[in-house]
Amino acid sequence: MPAVITDDKIPNNVNLSGDRRLQRALEAWQPHFLDWWKEMGPSGWQEKDIFLRTAVSVESEGWAHFDYVRMPDYRWGIFLEPKQEGRVHGFGDFKGQPVWDEVPGEFRNMLRRLIVTQGDTEPASVEQQRLLGQTSPSLYDLRNLFQVNVEEGRHLWAMVYLLHTYFGRDGREEADELLARRSGDVDKPRILGAFNEPTSHWLSFFMFTMFTDRDGKYQLSALAESGFDPLARTTRFMLTEEAHHLFVGESGVQRVCKRACELMKTAPGGDVRAAGGIDLPTLQKYVHLWYPLSLDLFGGEISSNASDAFAAGLKGRYKEERYTEHDLIGSTFSMDVLREGKVLREDVPMRTALNEVLRTEYIKDCQRGVDRWNKTIREEGIDFRITLPSNRFNRNIGMWATQRFAPDGTLIDQATWDAKRDSVLPTEADETYIKSLMKPVYERGKMANWIAPPAKGINNLPGDFEYVKVD
Ligand SMILES: [Fe+2]
Ligand SMILES: [Fe+2]
Repeated sequence: MPAVITDDKIPNNVNLSGDRRLQRALEAWQPHFLDWWKEMGPSGWQEKDIFLRTAVSVESEGWAHFDYVRMPDYRWGIFLEPKQEGRVHGFGDFKGQPVWDEVPGEFRNMLRRLIVTQGDTEPASVEQQRLLGQTSPSLYDLRNLFQVNVEEGRHLWAMVYLLHTYFGRDGREEADELLARRSGDVDKPRILGAFNEPTSHWLSFFMFTMFTDRDGKYQLSALAESGFDPLARTTRFMLTEEAHHLFVGESGVQRVCKRACELMKTAPGGDVRAAGGIDLPTLQKYVHLWYPLSLDLFGGEISSNASDAFAAGLKGRYKEERYTEHDLIGSTFSMDVLREGKVLREDVPMRTALNEVLRTEYIKDCQRGVDRWNKTIREEGIDFRITLPSNRFNRNIGMWATQRFAPDGTLIDQATWDAKRDSVLPTEADETYIKSLMKPVYERGKMANWIAPPAKGINNLPGDFEYVKVD
């Protein structure tokens, strides 16, 4: 497996030219992808030079190569981590047996569904974010948005490669469908809920990349353990790209917090909104919106699908090697469940609890990010704490979706919810206010008033670097 990426029509490190049939199929899909990108990718900016990183090799030194590139010329392609000789199944019913290089017939449908569900999120997020380039708070942020967008496009390529290579005709049909669904469309929506929500301004973009992209990190990590080796190697390389998306979200919200604190200290009466900033209570409401949407993406708390995927060796846990036990037969997971209108602690058979196990790791990771925001607020000398709501709050999927809960997890009735809703979740008026702040700032080194500048530039470049060539 060559680490170096060849400069074919479709850049790749999978020796694509050695498989003429596959090469022809993907070369036939490529123009459809580019049509989709032109129609549903970033609005405007397509002819401008953007300072982007591109993979030239999957070795740790070579995959982050920075240069100016027009987005339609981005090197979308197929990059897999090198094969590890002698790799065996690390968990499930096939533990210890050699991993599979071909799709096992009995698990074909399950595997295809996992790949399609993951693949669908990638173009969906590009569609959700397509208008944000009109209102970026700086050139630095504009460049980060486009970096995220082109890489989500490449993640679509990664999943389409698997569909074309291993699933024959129905794989090719699924690959076409990935370009046919549209985020938020009533007739042809994207598969998962959070990917049909509008990301209509930059605060939601930062919340999305903080919380929803982080779901992606955990799903990809679980697939990176897969006993279907091509899936493991594909998702491992995707994870290296994903880390930047999470950075964009976490540091973006942190900069909004910092600016809110500065305005609290300098604005007359500490009125952040009157000074054109995003106040911390409003920011908290957007945490209340995006965090539960992202928790939903992990699926039901008790799930036979999760159990089946683990048993088949297709989807493991986050960093499976940290665990000592990899069969999960006879073991249990202690978790909250809803029984006859009451929240109770119960031991659930481990394999059926695996969605909740993965979600629990995700929650810890989110909390670490929120702790860093609170550190920033503390360092600014402001007495305010951002909190993650209970995992029961405002859910649409799973057992908690059937009841109303306050942010602290208390069961409440519908009337109490109706009375409290506007104090905990964004209102129309909040949306209107946030949107009113979204005025583009495209001067080098300048920053919109509602957000603090980044601590440092991309690739250690200065803040006033020309991240996007505007003229
Ligand atoms: Fe992605
Ligand atoms: Fe991402």
